[in-house]
Amino acid sequence: MNILAIESSCDETAAAVTRGREVLSNIVASQVEEHRIYGGVVPEIASRRHAEAITGVTGAALKEAGVTLSEIDAVAVTYAPGLIGALLVGVNFAKGLALSAGKPLIPVHHLRSHIAANYITRPDWEPPFLCLVVSGGHSHLVEVRDYTDYRVIGRTHDDAAGECFDKSARAMGMPYPGGIALDRIADEGDPDAYDLPFPHVADHPYDFSFSGLKTAVVNLLHNAEQKGESVSVPDLSAALRRRVCDMLLRATEQAALDLGHTSIALAGGVSANSELRRRMEAMCASHGWRFGRPELCYCGDNAAMVGVQGYYEALAGHYADGSLNAYATMPIDCLTDIK
Ligand code: KG4
Ligand code: ZN
Repeated sequence: MNILAIESSCDETAAAVTRGREVLSNIVASQVEEHRIYGGVVPEIASRRHAEAITGVTGAALKEAGVTLSEIDAVAVTYAPGLIGALLVGVNFAKGLALSAGKPLIPVHHLRSHIAANYITRPDWEPPFLCLVVSGGHSHLVEVRDYTDYRVIGRTHDDAAGECFDKSARAMGMPYPGGIALDRIADEGDPDAYDLPFPHVADHPYDFSFSGLKTAVVNLLHNAEQKGESVSVPDLSAALRRRVCDMLLRATEQAALDLGHTSIALAGGVSANSELRRRMEAMCASHGWRFGRPELCYCGDNAAMVGVQGYYEALAGHYADGSLNAYATMPIDCLTDIK
């Protein structure tokens, strides 16, 4: 089944052609440079750039795959969650394309597709498994019971992990999106140089809370500035990265032990974090658990993962018609607008 997939939930306009779990092409046009001067994504600009880029990106995906539109069996599109204006560009484009070319339309949840990035990287990877989904907007611990069956068992009570990295990095003077820069600079720092808090969410062992960590970083910077003291950005980055990983690892390990999971996966933009990948792998090895994570090129937003999840949605009969809408928020286990 050849699927043409479209993704426009945030600041990447992406299109891909997939066949089952195989990626025939994967084109991503990033707007990051444009949003950088504002220190974050400006929704109105994102929508406009998606509208400008989407036709060219889709054409490039078909060309690179060597597949014509007539050889496409279905169109898959991210319809939630994300920036509503940005999502609407992709959804309307996909609806128009599917309708005019007479192809079925498959709506795909953004976090489901991040999880599916693991299926691309490891052809033998299959549910059930426990997945830590960490991105710029979400931090969830999800039991993936089947390809389209999920149970969220843990979540952040405030900021997402990526948000904590980005906002702390910004306070330290790094450009948006700071998570990547912070990861790099942390390699040169000493994580013991600063003692950051290790927040616990009382009575919710699988949940996270990152806002206290972000505030601790911002306060430390302000205090140092007021006293005229210097702060070591590599050391503070290393201390923060370690704490975020401490929190994510503790919840994941506890959940796996309690619920008997022996396959653990990472997903979402923050799954590119080098310390998280390294430590999660070591933790799994110490228990004899299987460990999966997407290749770096499939950690961030892309359409290949949308196509692969779209394939499993199609197998489950999850199609939509021309009334498909986009949604800024939607739980991962929700099936809105499925006909
Ligand atoms: O999944 P994603 O591309 O977009 C959302 O769906 O939100 O995730 C983007 C997030 C940003 O917060 C970015 O800073 C973070 O992923 N990120 C990283 C790394 N690479 C990307 N955070 C920490 N370490 C990295 N290496
Ligand atoms: Zn994402």
